[in-house]
Amino acid sequence: MQNSYLLEYPAKIIFGCGKLAELPANIPPGSRILLVTGNHAVKSGLQKQLIELLGNFTVIPFSGIAPEPPLEDADRLIELGRKEKISAVIAVGGGSVIDTAKTAACIIPAKGWTADYFSGREKITGKGLFMAALPTTAGTGTEITRNAVLTDAASKIKKSIRHSSMIPDLALIDPALTVSASPALTAASGMDAFTQAVESFISSEANSVSKSLAKSSVSLIYGSLAGTCRSPDNLELRGRVAEGSLLSAMAFSQSGLGAVHGLAHPIGSLLKVPHGICCAILLVPILKWNLPACGSEFSELAEACGGKSAEDFIGKVSALCSDLGIAPDFSLFGLSPEHYPFIIQNCRSNSMKCNPRQMSDNDIENILKGL
Ligand SMILES: [Fe+2]
Repeated sequence: MQNSYLLEYPAKIIFGCGKLAELPANIPPGSRILLVTGNHAVKSGLQKQLIELLGNFTVIPFSGIAPEPPLEDADRLIELGRKEKISAVIAVGGGSVIDTAKTAACIIPAKGWTADYFSGREKITGKGLFMAALPTTAGTGTEITRNAVLTDAASKIKKSIRHSSMIPDLALIDPALTVSASPALTAASGMDAFTQAVESFISSEANSVSKSLAKSSVSLIYGSLAGTCRSPDNLELRGRVAEGSLLSAMAFSQSGLGAVHGLAHPIGSLLKVPHGICCAILLVPILKWNLPACGSEFSELAEACGGKSAEDFIGKVSALCSDLGIAPDFSLFGLSPEHYPFIIQNCRSNSMKCNPRQMSDNDIENILKGL
């Protein structure tokens, strides 16, 4: 475990039910706002509610970001933002909406387009526009992190654009905003947050702060995710999952992740598996792989979930996945041996480097054969 650390979070994090009302007071006066939402927010009336709430500002609304967002979606926001001379970006949505909006907020005042930064031809050098992120799912944690995951549709490469300037200025997490998420979406995004917390706890780059945050997150999400899916209107349970998601992000943004996330990106982009589902399917097999290197850590996490041993912990995670109706493998999504070379070639990300037990290409192929 590393005993030195650098903590980088948004200048302001506001958490709590009903805190949406505090949004206008936390936006720079006179801002011209690009308001980015998901399509769901338009249908549900949330976008209209937000425009009314921001009545003292000029608001240019935009919706229609694709899942696993392509570079072109960020370019559409950049083009609109430059044309409308906007000075602030507010994203209200799931991970795709927030990741795309964060990218745009950073690139609008700079030069070039998303592909330039995705490929590394251009580097982010300065602060972007004022950016506020309000998640409507409890899972990705992108509202507080320094990276945005985008996909190049042509090459199917899914990776992060990463820089301190990508950290939003304001993260406003109001658990009431997650109430309209379906049980399936709640389960998938909650398992993303849970996986992030577990991978953070056992990461080779973990430190005392990240471990403490990750363990609290595991306890909160394990204790409330299945209940939230059964009782979607229960705000107290929603609040626990949302707080677990926030703590998970505060942890992994310091420690990095692990092999689940290393493998989830190429599998997700190749087979179009939603990220949270991908993480949930991979989690138990990777926990089993990591067991020889993580016995004491898994025992500690078992205690956070009301168990005792490392084996207890793996059993509890497996039972949680079944309870949430997570598919047992990728056969539904068509994983086959012809996909292995792409996955092996594209899984060596920073996440993979943080995994506590290293994997050879052969090890990865053997794991994939079991999926
Ligand atoms: Fe994730």
